[in-house]
Amino acid sequence: QRQENIRNFAIIAHIDHGKSTLADRIMETTNTISNREASAQLLDDMEVEKAHGVTVKSRTVRNYYVDANGDEFEYNLIDTPGHVDFNYEVSRSLSATDGVLLLVDATKGVQAQTVANYRLAMDANLTIIPIINKIDNLMADVEKTAAELLDLDERFTPEVTLHISAKTGLGIESVLEAIRDRIPAPVGDPNAPLKGLIFDSKFDPYQGVVVQARIFEGTLSSQDQLRFMAKDVQTQSKEIGFFDPMSRKTTSLAAGDVGYIITGIKDPRAVQVGDTVTTKKNGAAEPFPGYQQIEPMVYAGLYPKGGEYSDLKLAIEKLSLNDAAFQYEPEQSEALGMGFRGGFLGIFHLQIIRERLKAEFGLDVLTTMPNSTFRVTVKNQDAPLYIENPNQFPRYNELVKVEEPYVRAKITAPNEQLNDIMRLAECRRGELADLETIGDMLLITYRMPISEIAYDFFNELKSVSHGFATLSTERDDFGPSDLVRLDIAIDYVDIDALTFVMHRLRVESFAQEITQRLKDLVPRKLQAMPVQATVEGRVIARSDIPPLRKAAASGGKTSKKQQQMRRQGQKAQIELPQTVFDAILDMN
Ligand code: GTP
Repeated sequence: QRQENIRNFAIIAHIDHGKSTLADRIMETTNTISNREASAQLLDDMEVEKAHGVTVKSRTVRNYYVDANGDEFEYNLIDTPGHVDFNYEVSRSLSATDGVLLLVDATKGVQAQTVANYRLAMDANLTIIPIINKIDNLMADVEKTAAELLDLDERFTPEVTLHISAKTGLGIESVLEAIRDRIPAPVGDPNAPLKGLIFDSKFDPYQGVVVQARIFEGTLSSQDQLRFMAKDVQTQSKEIGFFDPMSRKTTSLAAGDVGYIITGIKDPRAVQVGDTVTTKKNGAAEPFPGYQQIEPMVYAGLYPKGGEYSDLKLAIEKLSLNDAAFQYEPEQSEALGMGFRGGFLGIFHLQIIRERLKAEFGLDVLTTMPNSTFRVTVKNQDAPLYIENPNQFPRYNELVKVEEPYVRAKITAPNEQLNDIMRLAECRRGELADLETIGDMLLITYRMPISEIAYDFFNELKSVSHGFATLSTERDDFGPSDLVRLDIAIDYVDIDALTFVMHRLRVESFAQEITQRLKDLVPRKLQAMPVQATVEGRVIARSDIPPLRKAAASGGKTSKKQQQMRRQGQKAQIELPQTVFDAILDMN
């Protein structure tokens, strides 16, 4: 296909506004798939994956559109991922396009993700085609929706806004024509050194890393020795091709094209979204700017519950193969034995990993309270330490400076929710950085510690906004923070799995609550056992776990001598059930 007849685009919309329906209709109108297949929701691709052994989730589908003049165009419809944890990946897949269809449900109007997606498209300098969908619906308010779109962007006038029904097919031809007329054809020299942007990367146990790439410069040939620039990984590709929507093998992909590469690389972390592919010989001088390595936001301990360490080890190794964002290393705890310290994108991600260990491997794991990384400077040492485990947090009298990582949190929500959202963000130590309004929508930016956002912030935001708010986050610098270390001792023995690092303002009430809860959750013994919470050498909260049987208690108080003996005695034989850690998570 000549470059001027290629269009690369994506559909962006708020959830349920009709993105999949429109995608199906485009594929059907261009005869990429038959009507029957369309009704079977081909975009649900498990079957395709099974049939072809290639991981093709969120694949880019190539369609051929023949217009009224009989001219043929190659329409590459690029799918974008949907979850907030993967915001960076959404913007990467958008930068593989030259334009987007911004779809708005006429029964709902402009909503939070409409605005958030619009912003991402603007940031990527894309042509935007505004489309009002579901005009067949009796509840449709086309006029109001049109006014909201105009409010969002003054260029979205009635003349440029399309009115369609993705369901009945009404107006689909106008969409196909607008793609041809308004979205620019790709530019880029097919004879230049190869430069392709990786906008999707999946790991397949048989094929290794399978990526999707947009070729911006040069020509990718199936014979080429390739180089992925971020980590300087070299390989001979096993296969290149495109999806129509089945995988079709080709011998070359030229500037302007979009396609897949089966790299054969067996390390799932070797190539990630945002990377640049070039050739080993005569390659591109510079990669695309703005590459971000996927880094965990929070860390937590993972320990076998009942089962064997070796089973957990195997399961974790397997799991990490198809989840490049999940990282781990072995860790040992006095209280919990051998286990792992896992790195996750957020609490939600941690929950998914836990559920998968259960569902796919039948393993119950105990997870400790998650924390972010801390950056601390200690006396007589210039270089700061990066700490991922609260146990390694230095004693207070050695500390010079303590910092924690921040994010910029961009929240989009309806106007009337401003107060609720500000209250929530301020409780989480959010500092207001920016506030804009777009029509009925607010765009609020906060600078906030990762540790605050990682705990369920998204769920709370959903709840105070009745599901209307959206959240996207970007990493920001480390910032100074008044963090303190809290140690818990049960029966005079420090429990390493119960060491926490948190903000000074929260530690008092946290200590009170955890000592009270532990009193009820820790299995009882023959003697009464004190639970003590210590901060900076001072016990700030205490409770007593009652003895197993009243009769066994030797007249109440433990003697000084007994205390002494226990302190010197064996390490704690204290059992910590998952309920203890669940309760702690619950306390936030
Ligand atoms: P997610 O994949 O969940 O983000 O949703 P989506 O944006 O892909 O929406 P989807 O295409 O699944 O459509 C959501 C619902 O709206 C479905 O029940 C569709 O049948 C319906 N729908 C989509 N387009 C139209 C339309 O033009 N008119 C009417 N009446 N219903 C539509």
